[in-house]
Amino acid sequence: MAKVLVCYYSRSGHTKKMAEEIAAVIGQEGLSVDLKDVKELEAKELLNYQGIVIGSPTYYGTMAWPVKKLLDESVRFHGKLKGRVGGAFASSANIGGGNETTILDILNALLIHGMVIQGDSAGDHYGPVSIGKPDERSLKCCRSHARNLSKLVQRLFA
Ligand SMILES: Cc1cc2nc3c(=O)[nH]c(=O)nc-3n(C[C@H](O)[C@H](O)[C@H](O)COP(=O)(O)O)c2cc1C
Repeated sequence: MAKVLVCYYSRSGHTKKMAEEIAAVIGQEGLSVDLKDVKELEAKELLNYQGIVIGSPTYYGTMAWPVKKLLDESVRFHGKLKGRVGGAFASSANIGGGNETTILDILNALLIHGMVIQGDSAGDHYGPVSIGKPDERSLKCCRSHARNLSKLVQRLFA
């Protein structure tokens, strides 16, 4: 069975709540899913998954350093994640506070790994975002992102 990792960094719980919502739906879609704090994750573990979704709070318009550290350490496996499915999500304090740039910075790294990224024409286009504590709009986007990603993983790795 294809395996998906949902990993996140979160200080006040907003990004974690999004991660939990995404992981729950991936499980409901019939995939094996692990939910992990990036601080408890070694870069080499990324190789165990066909799908990898990474979440971060927005810090000065980009990802928090524990997420960047994970990505920088993943250079040891450069090329080995080619063709796997990626996704990203982010929380910020403000509208226009940089949550989309945070997502795009994470996706940038995943694309450089050669991973496959699906956008969303209807929901949050680059990946789910929340302003502070995720509200129902944000959680809906988390669920839709999780369903789209699960379907893509199933299509590519069934
Ligand atoms: C060091 C630092 C930098 C931040 N920079 C931004 C920022 O650039 N834009 C923004 O809207 N919020 C910023 N925030 C607020 C967090 O992104 C926001 O509170 C987020 O919801 C926290 O997510 P968490 O509960 O998962 O830790 C910053 C917070 C910290 C601690």
